Amino acid sequence: MKDETRVNHPPAIELPDDNYPLNLPIFQNVKWETETVLEGERIARGERPGFFYSRLSNPSVRQLELMLAQLQRRDECMVTASGVNAVAQTLIGLTRAGDHVVFFTEGYGPTRQIIRGMLARFGVTHSMLSIDDLAGLERTLSTRKTRLVWFESPTNPINKIADIEAITRLARAHGALTAIDNTAAGFHQHGEFDIDLFVHSLTKFATGAGDVMGGAVIARRELIDQLRSDFRLFGAHLDALSASIMVRGLKTYFVRYRQQSASAQTVAEFLEHHPACTRVRYPGLASQPKAELARRQMREFGSVICFDLVAGYEAGRKFTESLQLFARTPSFGSTESLAMPPQMMQPKDFSPEDLALSSIGPGTVRLSIGLEDIEDLKADLTQALETIHP
Ligand SMILES: Cc1ncc(COP(=O)(O)O)c(C=O)c1O
Repeated sequence: MKDETRVNHPPAIELPDDNYPLNLPIFQNVKWETETVLEGERIARGERPGFFYSRLSNPSVRQLELMLAQLQRRDECMVTASGVNAVAQTLIGLTRAGDHVVFFTEGYGPTRQIIRGMLARFGVTHSMLSIDDLAGLERTLSTRKTRLVWFESPTNPINKIADIEAITRLARAHGALTAIDNTAAGFHQHGEFDIDLFVHSLTKFATGAGDVMGGAVIARRELIDQLRSDFRLFGAHLDALSASIMVRGLKTYFVRYRQQSASAQTVAEFLEHHPACTRVRYPGLASQPKAELARRQMREFGSVICFDLVAGYEAGRKFTESLQLFARTPSFGSTESLAMPPQMMQPKDFSPEDLALSSIGPGTVRLSIGLEDIEDLKADLTQALETIHP
């Protein structure tokens, strides 16, 4: 064999049957070969286990999918290159021209844009309601045959709690599927409810490090099988390296989520008593309108706190620029604390009526609490609030 040939056919490494690595090695590999053409064809058709081409499946990616399905207590999972991609592909994969989708004003902006823009272009209609409007939901489902009810809890950005039992019961009674974007609640919550599909941005809590992007849809096998061929044709698969970084990140997920929730509770209680702040929204606060519902539905309440600065829009700029420990950036769930000023919170696609329904005010700020020392975080917030409320 000439060296030019050798470098394209590196030596095989045989692993003894009784000697395993503790972590699954990263399958940084696109193509798999089989001894016979027939076996390759059977793998590609899904008739036997094995791998064929990494856009279809990859062991590192598959390990992450199985882990997420187990955490969320469902049969199957497909991961994708970003959370927004999981949202878009799930919405597109489940609907066809003439279908009707219900979603909620308080939810994530790009999801709204996909439903109101992209799906509408393909003849899918929609109704947008407030997540608090259960009577409106019942009226809509009774008068319009609905394919899908899409919701979040807690909602991003405003941290409202959806009544999951009521929403899923109404949807089921009227023959509609339910999908929850469960990103803020995490992978371990809400699995006991009668929800058909769970969608996640993996970019937040999977690693907490803000180093990789990804998304997931998790559901019973029949629904994932329905979505799979479209997902594969869109080609927005997660790569093996990102998947293995996420599998590693999930090892510390519970410790991070619980500590961040405990710190967020302390910060929310601190802000609630600060004269510069009003309408502090954190599901764990006893003062919340849906505190009892939140306690029934959730074990931990997450890292996100939303509140309004009494001093309004411009004060939000000064407040967030004065923070030393909070990065001024979107996203949440990372080990560093983050702050979104009102300038980043105003949805561009809302009418004044939509905006009023969304509960986003001119001074609304969103914080995500990380793993820093809680006294350091409170001291930083105190000094920044003093700059606008001496
Ligand atoms: C609730 C929610 N869903 C989906 C997404 C989209 O995720 P990604 O940024 O991974 O595309 C986000 C991102 O902020 C989000 O907050």
